[in-house]
Amino acid sequence: MIEDTGTTRTTPQGYRDVWRRSIDERDDFWLQAAGLIDWVSAPTTALTERSPTDYSWFADGTLNTSYNALDRHVLAGRGDHTALIYDSAMTGTRIRLSYRDLLDRVARFAGVLRANGVGRGDRVIVYLPMIPEAVVAMLACARIGAVHSVVFGGFAASELAVRIDDARPAVIVTASGGLEPGKAVAYLPLVQKALELSAGSVHTVIVRDRATIDGSAADYAGDPADDAAVRWLDWADAEATATPADPVTVASTDPLYILYTSGTTGNPKGIIRDNGGHAVALTWSMRGIYDIGPDDVFWAASDVGWVVGHSYIVYAPLLAGATTIIYEGKPIGTPDAGAFWRVVADYRVNVLFTAPTAIRAIRRVDPDLAELARHDVSSLTALFLAGERLDPETFHWVNDGLHCPVVDHWWQTETGWAICANPRGIQELPTKPGSTAVPVPGYDIAILDSKGAPITKPGKDGNIVIRLPLPPGSLLGIWGGADRFVDAYLTAFPGYYATGDSGHLDADGYLYVMGRTDDVINVAGHRLSTGSLEEVLTRHPAVAECAVLGVHDALKGQRAAGFVTLKAGSVVDHDLLTAELVNLVREHIGPVAAFRDVRILDRLPKTRSGKILRKTIRQIVDGEPYKVPPTIEDPAVLDALALAVRPPPTD
Ligand code: COA
Ligand code: AMP
Repeated sequence: MIEDTGTTRTTPQGYRDVWRRSIDERDDFWLQAAGLIDWVSAPTTALTERSPTDYSWFADGTLNTSYNALDRHVLAGRGDHTALIYDSAMTGTRIRLSYRDLLDRVARFAGVLRANGVGRGDRVIVYLPMIPEAVVAMLACARIGAVHSVVFGGFAASELAVRIDDARPAVIVTASGGLEPGKAVAYLPLVQKALELSAGSVHTVIVRDRATIDGSAADYAGDPADDAAVRWLDWADAEATATPADPVTVASTDPLYILYTSGTTGNPKGIIRDNGGHAVALTWSMRGIYDIGPDDVFWAASDVGWVVGHSYIVYAPLLAGATTIIYEGKPIGTPDAGAFWRVVADYRVNVLFTAPTAIRAIRRVDPDLAELARHDVSSLTALFLAGERLDPETFHWVNDGLHCPVVDHWWQTETGWAICANPRGIQELPTKPGSTAVPVPGYDIAILDSKGAPITKPGKDGNIVIRLPLPPGSLLGIWGGADRFVDAYLTAFPGYYATGDSGHLDADGYLYVMGRTDDVINVAGHRLSTGSLEEVLTRHPAVAECAVLGVHDALKGQRAAGFVTLKAGSVVDHDLLTAELVNLVREHIGPVAAFRDVRILDRLPKTRSGKILRKTIRQIVDGEPYKVPPTIEDPAVLDALALAVRPPPTD
């Protein structure tokens, strides 16, 4: 059944025509889109294909992304228009920066980086909380052709160290700390520890003292001192005396940033984004998908450490000349479940983009949306959701309450922008709850079975793949390994990019994303590798074997649950062991893993060849029907597991 939940707006060229042109007349389509941004030298070709798995976009074009996000709007007379609103629900701070203000700060900070030896192609790690400086640092790197790699604040020092070792930055930009509800998170001890753990590429750390932004009296422990290897600079001092830097011309294909994401192994993959394809795709997406223009306010309630933050807090809204919001706070508890509606009302937000978990959190606290009634959210034209599956129940709840279209759209760190969506700027299509709607122009989707044969029957699940080449804006490769890109994504199904997601298309061409086909799980919209969690659990001396699975969680969609067996002869208190394992994950991965669920078993269910029956374990824990696999080593282990996770009620 197709539910029409909004007005149907059709441009002279409807969605089907635009999508068809983006595939059949790929070069013309994207060269026309390239006209949305300013080039130093405009590209004469869109796609350059050296082989089916080796291609680039706008290869002969040159540009600067920060110029496109800032300078050109100022030069066009829009310098006084608000570029960035900073709203901290944690401190009450509210700051508005016009395009001119933001340009001034970015140019100065680019000067700071340059004075510290950072040049074109050099990497800079940005480890900052949700403060305007995160946007400034990213754009400053882009301005001088340096490559930023933002690391989310909820990761532990060892995860930061892994990224330092892979990206080999010369400079880290950080702050004294971040604020989480009820606690201050000191960043500097984490940075210091990461430097100790890593191989020593960093010569300078630039530190933003939060007290200089909001007078925050939070006590961030740790006051590092210069040593022979690393200099610690104060951001404010350095910025005050800096010589502003002009934008540096880079090749379209030069890397703009590296963003690490979880794969199936413990080693995160550094997704490389280019300059030209990224700027074109994101600028196009603001109108094509979100229907946002220069006079609009766009709010992605995410974090700059994730791809949503990169694309839709920082780059896309600014490339489009719109106003973006950097919000430091949570959907609930800062101070209440009306926090999001308050921000929408205060700044007349036109489009809000967040993760379904945030909506479920609001629903849990405010099921009747009483808080919504206290705020004027009439400016909102649409709510976009992504990052994890939007269950139909949550869709209906928020759709009924908000009275504006609710759009589920699907994408990945790798693609950098939506693969499937309801393209509201082209044509608003009917909504189908549970579906992420239709392929966005540029993306040609197919469903393949495990042998790579196309599944054409509507409704039949399979591997979701994207026919090569991927459109502009999608990943160029994986940092440090040309082969890693091909091996990880392009080999399983020749001619296609394997998304790692499974699902189906219906008879109308709507996509339903049902889950992952690999060991990646999604906790509150954050992607985690079960492999890396398992690596951490097996560090404990008492653990013999373990399996970490994503089990259903009513709030966060999934949560990581660890099933462990003990080494023969280990006598340990189970509560103590659980606490130690939880702490190990916190120490090695970080609080973001939100790992609390440990089950200690006598044996793990396995096949006769020794493979752990993960799917069956998950089905038992989630209370789903399951079949006893014919290859099982000992079916009695399943009964014991079922009893362990669902003990019979005691009177
Ligand atoms: N820096 C340091 N620590 C952080 C952090 C950051 N930037 N972000 C989260 N953490 C910590 C939290 O403080 C928490 O620590 P704790 O275990 O000591 O309490 C832990 O990481 C887990 O945080 P979170 O996932 O935020 O769970 P929560 O239970 O604190 O909050 C929600 C629940 C629903 C409010 C929260 O998950 C949320 O806002 N989700 C929205 C998801 C989202 O925006 N995803 C972005 C992808 S588009
Ligand atoms: P990330 O790279 O962290 O953005 O996570 C990407 C993964 O999140 C995808 O591969 C999907 O598994 C999942 N995901 C993102 N958006 C959606 C969505 N709208 N519906 C279902 N799953 C989604």
